[in-house]
Amino acid sequence: MSHLFPPPILNSILTFMICILIAVPASHGDGDGDGDVDEQYMSCNSSQSCGTVQDIRYPFWVHNIRPQFCGLRRFELQCHDNEYATIGIGHQSFRVLEINNTHPIMRIVIADYVGRDCLESIRKSSISDPLFNYTEKVRNLSLFYDCSGDFSSQLGNNKYKCTSEGGVVIRSFYTVDNNDDSRLHNLSNSCSSVVKVPIQLTRPNILYLTEGRLIEALNQGFEVRYDAEDKLCSTCTSHHPRGICGSNQSSDEFSCFYPPGMHLRPSFSHSL
Ligand SMILES: *[C@@H]1O[C@H](CO)[C@@H](O)[C@H](O)[C@H]1NC(C)=O
Ligand SMILES: *[C@@H]1O[C@H](CO)[C@@H](O)[C@H](O)[C@H]1NC(C)=O
Ligand SMILES: *[C@@H]1O[C@H](CO)[C@@H](O)[C@H](O)[C@H]1NC(C)=O
Ligand SMILES: *[C@@H]1O[C@H](CO)[C@@H](O)[C@H](O)[C@H]1NC(C)=O
Ligand SMILES: *[C@@H]1O[C@H](CO)[C@@H](O)[C@H](O)[C@H]1NC(C)=O
Ligand SMILES: *[C@@H]1O[C@H](CO)[C@@H](O)[C@H](O)[C@H]1NC(C)=O
Repeated sequence: MSHLFPPPILNSILTFMICILIAVPASHGDGDGDGDVDEQYMSCNSSQSCGTVQDIRYPFWVHNIRPQFCGLRRFELQCHDNEYATIGIGHQSFRVLEINNTHPIMRIVIADYVGRDCLESIRKSSISDPLFNYTEKVRNLSLFYDCSGDFSSQLGNNKYKCTSEGGVVIRSFYTVDNNDDSRLHNLSNSCSSVVKVPIQLTRPNILYLTEGRLIEALNQGFEVRYDAEDKLCSTCTSHHPRGICGSNQSSDEFSCFYPPGMHLRPSFSHSL
């Protein structure tokens, strides 16, 4: 007699199958455009790498490698011969040295610096873009080129010599900015060029700077924090364990992509 009453496990299986039968037609009927979302999900649900930059994900996309809808328009990377990646901020190009995948932070270096030791002709290097801010570790390094007089007694041993693009050896001093330092103002008047560049005061960099290894310090780049719709993105990934962040390529609005078959519509969006 007992076989007339299905055991509980069978009951659960039946319930499960009924759910699927109900869910499948429903999901097929919820409008067009889902096929695109599936494709977008598939193209974005993997990270790319470019040279030493591994694991490139949202909000970044890579020209010809990772579609724009996997990121946000302003976070375009250019990959150069799979050796290094650059990003444009303002009118300047920066090499991306590292992307921190747990915090919206990346370490970059002004592309023009790389491989040069004289920076006397760099015009502007500071970042003024609301999407990117320096982290707390970043300071201004002032470089004084071709100064008349000897300032070593005032500035300590922060001297270096470099070779300009024209092959001329230039004497230089450098100092990490201290806004209260009136000596800097005086120096500016007796040097042929004064350049300010962002520098990161990490432990190795402080050592490089005190040892006069300026180029090594500059090559470490500096950190910027970026603003990539973090609230929307974390809502997207917490609403669905496999949701991934992206954007509508034509409007640059944030978009949440779900895995194929999970035809949930993003219930929120936001303009940049
Ligand atoms: C998405 O990526 C994860 C991790 O790489 C992988 O386990 C999963 O199968 C992918 N999903 C799809 C639908 O490709
Ligand atoms: C990411 O940034 C956080 C906060 O600055 C830091 O603690 C962490 O070590 C960084 N991770 C990587 C891989 O750099
Ligand atoms: C460097 O100096 C410039 C101009 O004085 C200033 O706008 C900028 O905020 C400074 N950067 C840092 C990291 O202190
Ligand atoms: C700066 O220069 C002025 C005149 O050129 C001089 O009087 C002043 O003492 C100098 N300040 C410092 C800190 O060297
Ligand atoms: C940068 O700082 C400004 C002013 O504090 C703030 O409005 C902006 O949201 C910050 N951007 C990032 C990316 O942290
Ligand atoms: C993307 O944005 C365009 C222009 O605003 C809009 O017409 C289109 O419906 C959007 N696509 C999706 C999938 O939201």
